[in-house]
Amino acid sequence: MTSLAWADLIEYVKLARAEIDEKLSEKIKSRSDRAIIKNALSGGKRLRSILLLLAYDALGGKDRDAALEVACALELAHNASLIHDDIIDGDMERRGRPALWRRIGVANAIIQGHRIINLAFQTVLEKGVELARIFLKAWDDASTGILEEIFSGEEFSKKLYTRIVKEKTASLFAAATESAAVLAHADGKVRELMREYGETVGMAYQLADDYVDILSDRRRLNFPIFVLRQFEDMIKQFYIATKTGNLRAIIPKSLFDIRRSDIFVKEINDYITRAKELISNPAIPDSRYKSMLMEFPRYCVNSMLSGLR
Ligand code: IPE
Ligand code: MG
Repeated sequence: MTSLAWADLIEYVKLARAEIDEKLSEKIKSRSDRAIIKNALSGGKRLRSILLLLAYDALGGKDRDAALEVACALELAHNASLIHDDIIDGDMERRGRPALWRRIGVANAIIQGHRIINLAFQTVLEKGVELARIFLKAWDDASTGILEEIFSGEEFSKKLYTRIVKEKTASLFAAATESAAVLAHADGKVRELMREYGETVGMAYQLADDYVDILSDRRRLNFPIFVLRQFEDMIKQFYIATKTGNLRAIIPKSLFDIRRSDIFVKEINDYITRAKELISNPAIPDSRYKSMLMEFPRYCVNSMLSGLR
């Protein structure tokens, strides 16, 4: 945790964040709705946009300004999704302050979210149709995930949960790293590797978010039933595993010893390990940026878990 790469990453995040924020301010400065956008963006961790920049640097990209533009677009789209999410979930607060819809009204917040998405897509389109395609796909996946979370009639399973997390959250992380690969003119193999790496980081991140929700007993629309069914599903799996003798070291004394949180911790760690495996592929050239990408999944999860304090 206190490795050189970890310290390097902390420093990188600080600098990248400042770069992104400066660019974002520049992008919105002549808009009449700049105060609202600034407000909506304020206090975010900028993880997706920082990931894009770090991946771009790791791939040796040369046009940093183009990467910065696309990173900002991703950040804008992410924040627009949060504006809409808070309306859908009826969440009163975002980042410790009243949600945007409570400050400017629901109708205004819906339209404002759309305008921010528009700005994001415009920005990306200027950098090429290929990037625009990545964004459109990610946006569509995210929307599908949110709809499925609310309306899916499918019986709950770990498979469904995984799919929703992948679509809802991991899609934007995947878009970050895939965009970086396209911007850096990486070949198809590296592009797919980077996409999968981003997706895996996003999976770990969303699971960490759900884990925080479980531990802090926060209740979101649809989430209690979700967790409960997830728990039941896991219990079922553990039960079968006990019967077939597959559990080995993790056999609990009784089924009631299995805590939902333990299940999440294991899953999160598995995703972190998988992301590290992906990025350690020799197709990605060794550099300090690559070392930082090795630490990035843990960094994301930690920044989510620090919300528990
Ligand atoms: C919140 O994302 C929604 C999730 C998918 C977990 P972040 O925690 O990354 O949002 P910021 O940092 O406030 O922008
Ligand atoms: Mg959250």
